[in-house]
Amino acid sequence: MEPYLDLMARALTGSLDTSACDNFMTRVTGPELQRPSASTRTMIGRRRLETINDCVRSITTNNVNGICLEAGCWFGGAVLFMAACFRHYDGSNNRIAVGCDLFRHEGSAGPVRQVAGNILAKSLYHLLPKPIVMRMVRSVLLRFFPSVTDEESVEVFYNKLAVFDVWSVEYIPANMYDDVMAAAKRYGLEDNVCYLKGYFSDTLPSLPYDTIALLRLDSDFYESTTDVLEHAYPRIPSGGFCIVDDYNGYAECRRAVHDYMDRTNREWTEDETCSGGNKVVIKRVDEECVYWQV
Ligand SMILES: C[S@@+](CC[C@H](N)C(=O)[O-])C[C@H]1O[C@@H](n2cnc3c(N)ncnc32)[C@H](O)[C@@H]1O
Repeated sequence: MEPYLDLMARALTGSLDTSACDNFMTRVTGPELQRPSASTRTMIGRRRLETINDCVRSITTNNVNGICLEAGCWFGGAVLFMAACFRHYDGSNNRIAVGCDLFRHEGSAGPVRQVAGNILAKSLYHLLPKPIVMRMVRSVLLRFFPSVTDEESVEVFYNKLAVFDVWSVEYIPANMYDDVMAAAKRYGLEDNVCYLKGYFSDTLPSLPYDTIALLRLDSDFYESTTDVLEHAYPRIPSGGFCIVDDYNGYAECRRAVHDYMDRTNREWTEDETCSGGNKVVIKRVDEECVYWQV
């Protein structure tokens, strides 16, 4: 990655922030996936940011018209990265990146759930026989973090129950939208981004941009994925890109994509060796995220 974009990726994923805490959740998911510090603005990680970089480079090199849009932008980090890519590759500085979200952070537990969660974890650790608790930990990991079910990890998580403090991990601002706007200013990108607050079904129909060169979907669910595809996908011109973050993470999300493509008579294939033709070729970014060129 170019030095400016590399630095942006490090900053937005929170990798430069030494105040990031070492705790249960960040160990489970890796430092990029939760919000271990207030400077972590995206959970998508380095590899998926690189895909954004590749798409924007292609868009600008081939003069494909349009903005970048992320539906489901959380703390706005991937949108800032899109804007930085535009700034880097498209010297004219007049393309913008749009982020849509409810900006209503619900990742935190209130004090009651926080205390209850911690008591439950500590009780499991201290009151039940280790083999039973280990089995419970193993099945929780298998369900939510299948890549870390080796015996060593299970043991680490088992021991973490004794000092469980998962709900204090995240840094929650009082007003998420203001926080996201303030971050855009700190990065000097406030003129290059636009954040739209509300449900996709309310914000996207009146989107004031006709052409979307890069559409990134990251909202997990069938309904929200469908809303975004219905309102935004037809605005992607030939040569533009679509990225679906949760395609192989949630079966519902994949089903929403297939249903939309079939319903609108768009041909697609997951066979990456296929040369395309009329079909879009859905390509893997990693085990969950996919992208394709329209
Ligand atoms: C997994 S997070 C997105 C992560 C983000 N792309 C990043 O870079 O870290 C999913 C986001 O989708 C938003 N969301 C889900 N359904 C939505 C809807 N129907 N309308 C607006 N936002 C929605 C949630 O508020 C949440 O912030």
